Amino acid sequence: MASSAKKGAGGSGRIGGILKFLAILVGLLAPVFYVIEQNLESFYIFETDHLHDLSRRAIAAHGNDTRSVVKYITDELSARVSTKSHVNLDEEWMFNNAGGAMGAMYIIHASVTEYLIIFGTAVGTEGHTGRHTADDFFHILQGTQLAYVPGEYEPEVYPQGSMHHLRRGTVKQYKMPESCFALEYARGWIPPMLFFGYADGLTSTMDIPTLWRTTYVTGREIIGNLLKGKF
Ligand SMILES: *[C@@H]1O[C@H](CO)[C@@H](O)[C@H](O)[C@H]1NC(C)=O
Repeated sequence: MASSAKKGAGGSGRIGGILKFLAILVGLLAPVFYVIEQNLESFYIFETDHLHDLSRRAIAAHGNDTRSVVKYITDELSARVSTKSHVNLDEEWMFNNAGGAMGAMYIIHASVTEYLIIFGTAVGTEGHTGRHTADDFFHILQGTQLAYVPGEYEPEVYPQGSMHHLRRGTVKQYKMPESCFALEYARGWIPPMLFFGYADGLTSTMDIPTLWRTTYVTGREIIGNLLKGKF
């Protein structure tokens, strides 16, 4: 009796210790996150105006030859001083299932505060955008994207060359009726977005090789950038 009571006390002591440790950790990290949140802008290396202009110039140069449009974009980013050591030129395409939509992506850049990918599908898709901790800028390179917000009776239409800005914390239903590809740029807190990126894979497709590839490439890019001092 006595020894089991003692054991019980030891167990709750250990839990108390863990809780205390977590409380201290949160107490220490909260101000750090707050300061970073106030200064998120200073970590960004991509400029929204430049990406929009670059997308339009790439389309003007190559039209619907989207493979060349993508190459035009990555060539320029890899020549720019501010971005050249932070872009992945290896077109590692992989499927992405999220919010019920399915497409494929090529990760050009991923870090704690930004990501830049080519996302799209040649057959069309539809889904939930996800409610994110980052602003999302979707530059349509080929095809058309439609979006819907509750309360409206007409769709938002984003044709080739336009940019769809999904504000941090907001959601829409979106659809790519046919073949559609976009240069997607997100800035804010990227790691929380990854949960949305994995949810469909873990609860529906169970496509483990794709999940592993997504994890490997994303992790390699985020950590690689951190090691180069890019937060
Ligand atoms: C791409 O193809 C679509 C559909 O055929 C056409 O409407 C559009 O003008 C083309 N875009 C360019 C830049 O050639």
